[in-house]
Amino acid sequence: MTRILMTGSLGQIGTELIALLRTKYGKENVIGTDLESPNEELEDLGPYQRLDVTDHTAIATAVELYNVDWLVHNASLLSASGERNPRLAMDVNIRGFEYAIEAAKEYNLRILTPSSMAAFGPSTPRLNTPDVTIMRPNTIYGVSKVYIELLGEYYHSKWGVDFRSLRYPGIISSGIMPEGGTTDYAVDIFYEALKQKTYECFLKPDATLPMMYMPDCLKGTLQLLEADNANLISRVFNVAAFSFSPGEIAAEIQIHIPDFEITYNPDFRQILAESWPQSLSDTNARAQWNWMPDYTLSMMVEDMLEKLAAKLEIEYLSGSE
Ligand code: SER
Repeated sequence: MTRILMTGSLGQIGTELIALLRTKYGKENVIGTDLESPNEELEDLGPYQRLDVTDHTAIATAVELYNVDWLVHNASLLSASGERNPRLAMDVNIRGFEYAIEAAKEYNLRILTPSSMAAFGPSTPRLNTPDVTIMRPNTIYGVSKVYIELLGEYYHSKWGVDFRSLRYPGIISSGIMPEGGTTDYAVDIFYEALKQKTYECFLKPDATLPMMYMPDCLKGTLQLLEADNANLISRVFNVAAFSFSPGEIAAEIQIHIPDFEITYNPDFRQILAESWPQSLSDTNARAQWNWMPDYTLSMMVEDMLEKLAAKLEIEYLSGSE
């Protein structure tokens, strides 16, 4: 039976990914860890312990204690938080990964750590960006992701560590809110559209970025985690679903909430968005482990509005009905 340890299990992706892994591999076999202290509610969902990834022995100690086979290392500061506190981003994203990959080597673990479209930079070709291209990010978040990718590949080629990574686009979900990212607007906008019918966006109307709905993010992550190692020629993969700008998502929401209005007040995050691709090519993921997203932009918008309206107990009249 596979046993899995996850760092960052209380984050936007971790929360939903750990629930899926517990359904698949058994509640007792998937150990969640994050900065929060354990409580009854968390422990009810499955084994959980507090773990700070910047503590150099913490990951290895937990790996040994729970006798795990796979490490899903999700703990990370996102792009905007990283720019606000680069030193902390280096500690969490860079040092944290070094401790994780070292534990993977020592205990012979499969390790999956997310990368991001933010690993690309302003000199990267922005349309249909391939897996291998110019990578000179200008954020500490992007720098940390390039480092993670290269160090993971190095551990793989030098010591045979089974390292795997996906470059996520912006992830949109109706569960836990993302925190400290540039693509967070694409989640916030739904809450504000339902609650206030107005939203002030911190990006410009035409800031197009690659995005993905959480069910596809979970599906892809699980597919890569479970993929037969023999089929993997690469270790790091772009994954794509759709791209949109703030103007385009606002128009899509207006189909359902016609009196919704968006205004724009771009801040430093606009510069970050401008440094990233507008669309990603994911041909390697499709070829090597059968990646294929299910959700289109309009399907995602419809589902988000439905789920959030239920969560917020707000009734809304869909203009498309
Ligand atoms: N969602 C991330 C961010 O905005 C990018 O991968 O920081």
